[in-house]
Amino acid sequence: MRDAGEPPLLEINIASKRYRGAGRVDLDVIKDLRFSLAQGSVTCLLGPSGCGKTTALRIILGLDRKFEGAVTPPVDSLKLGVVFQDPRLLPWRTVEENIRLAAPSMSPSGLEDILQSLGLSDWRAHRPGELSVGMARRAAVARALSVEPDLLVLDEAFVSLDERGASVLRQYVFGVARARGTAILMVTHNIDEALRHSDRILVLAPRPTHVLESFELAAPLVARDATWMETQRRRFEQVVGATGLPQPPRAIASNHATDPFW
Ligand SMILES: Nc1ncnc2c1ncn2[C@@H]1O[C@H](COP(=O)(O)OP(=O)(O)OP(=O)(O)O)[C@@H](O)[C@H]1O
Ligand SMILES: [Mg+2]
Repeated sequence: MRDAGEPPLLEINIASKRYRGAGRVDLDVIKDLRFSLAQGSVTCLLGPSGCGKTTALRIILGLDRKFEGAVTPPVDSLKLGVVFQDPRLLPWRTVEENIRLAAPSMSPSGLEDILQSLGLSDWRAHRPGELSVGMARRAAVARALSVEPDLLVLDEAFVSLDERGASVLRQYVFGVARARGTAILMVTHNIDEALRHSDRILVLAPRPTHVLESFELAAPLVARDATWMETQRRRFEQVVGATGLPQPPRAIASNHATDPFW
């Protein structure tokens, strides 16, 4: 159980992020995006396509330093795990080497355990080019979890998987993170995924993005049954409706972004 008096894991204050455009026209992507991440909490960013979610994650991860504002404490002081939509494995290294490079001090039994849990034992000596999309994604998840991160960042980490594969992988990732008290910051377009696994969904505005609403989900995960999900979907639709944004699609089972807005 988290202590309400605990300091946040991370405070995000992005006053402004702009991309310099080719014709000297700057693109204002983020304006006053502020939120904090509690230790061990699961926060989901949900917002229109192109609003600046990946941009925000890159800033939070310390991959983009060209912005006004601050992320405190500096992310270099945290152990980070990241899974992007594209698995980004080193193509000339095997699955095992990709994991070992991220977590060189991982014990052989720890490595064995993670490979086994993700169904990758038989693929440890294979290179990413030989893997299916689902396997490559699992290898990226193994690499991210192998460092035992304080913060796990998931940018549409379950897209382009079939729903069963996505569901199994989600159970594993969120199960491990919850058991270890790892905080998660995730981006998804799949509202069921957000409702089922988050403690809080931050609804983001179109560009330049900022938080429009914070949607809290206090129920324990075991209580999130079909009836609870339907109630939350309705409540969520009301909250989105009140922001003036169009409703996100109800085709919740889809792991593929189908709506050009959301
Ligand atoms: N390196 C870049 N240079 C210039 N513009 C960029 C760059 N990266 C992103 N953008 C623009 O910034 C805006 C926000 O992009 P971003 O990838 O953060 O959106 P997103 O919210 O993650 O969208 P999606 O849900 O489709 O993944 C978009 O208009 C995009 O075209
Ligand atoms: Mg994105």
